[in-house]
Amino acid sequence: MNTICWRNGKIQFIDQTRLPHETVVLETDDYQCIVAALKTLQIRGAPAIGVAAAYAVAAGAAKVETDSPAEFLSELDNICRTVASARPTAVNLFWAIERMRKAVQGETVAEMKASLLAEAKRMEAEDAEVNRKIGRFGAELIPDGATVLTHCNAGALATVTYGTALGVIRAAKEQGKTLQVYADETRPLLQGARLTAWELMQDNIPVTLITDNMAGHFLHKGVITCAIVGADRIAANGDVANKIGTYSVAVLAAENGVPFYVAAPTSTIDMALATGDEIPIEERSPEEVTCIGGVRVAPEGVAVANPAFDVTPHHYVSAIITEKGVAQEPYVERLREIIGGSS
Ligand code: MRU
Repeated sequence: MNTICWRNGKIQFIDQTRLPHETVVLETDDYQCIVAALKTLQIRGAPAIGVAAAYAVAAGAAKVETDSPAEFLSELDNICRTVASARPTAVNLFWAIERMRKAVQGETVAEMKASLLAEAKRMEAEDAEVNRKIGRFGAELIPDGATVLTHCNAGALATVTYGTALGVIRAAKEQGKTLQVYADETRPLLQGARLTAWELMQDNIPVTLITDNMAGHFLHKGVITCAIVGADRIAANGDVANKIGTYSVAVLAAENGVPFYVAAPTSTIDMALATGDEIPIEERSPEEVTCIGGVRVAPEGVAVANPAFDVTPHHYVSAIITEKGVAQEPYVERLREIIGGSS
């Protein structure tokens, strides 16, 4: 099934906090449950966050009890604000909400509700298509026999299906290339160990799990052909916000002459922000650092910092792979062309 979808009048989604131990599918028609699922990372990954936000808005709107279009639109505004408060960094959340706001059509409340649900369903279908396109463009950059390093989870679980960074790997494999993946475990929440390793093993793609601090060693030893990651927000100049630790991978890749690629849909590009310095970075709970799997590993009372994302300056990024083509420096110009559709 898709990571998130609409079935029998409800939103169905895979609870990613339970993987890899059990595959649990939850369903709800309560938009506040989706907001909670986004906050706790039951649903995570920028494109999946976007589609979840769209369905949350549609589900919230469906329950508004009024026949007055004005009252409905005012309630819709409250719902959109609540959904927007779920997480700050992945721009797909705000992109999706904006698209939903613009999608409202019709004279009656019933028609407006229907137009919102139709738009959310369209966004689910589009995400699957977009990832296949990213995969096809990106696969050209992956040589046969490659060993690809990745960080966090930019796979099927982070999207509706197929993935962005892992979509590129899947597409390369579908083209008949032999390849293997080194997956950073990705502390603090272990998306690499729990999700990327699980997902690739399901698809019989060879994967070797390493701790985050081993990446430099393997890059230096010449084991890694290229690194490929996803993104939560890309500024107009090509600076990339992605899971904390991505910046270290990019610097280590550059130091060792290894290409560092970012695979992301154009919905992750935020042309309103000139540079990555303007990207809001989510700070998460200290318990994510002081505990692993619910077991405390640090002394009580220790000071903790827990930024969930970092920003990789664009000069470390060898290429940004989108569904509309592959951008390289100068990103300011190439991203503008791609967003404008002229690529
Ligand atoms: O905190 P998360 O798990 O939502 O962070 C996810 C990432 O950083 C992904 O790499 C990014 O969203 C791209 S997903 C295709």
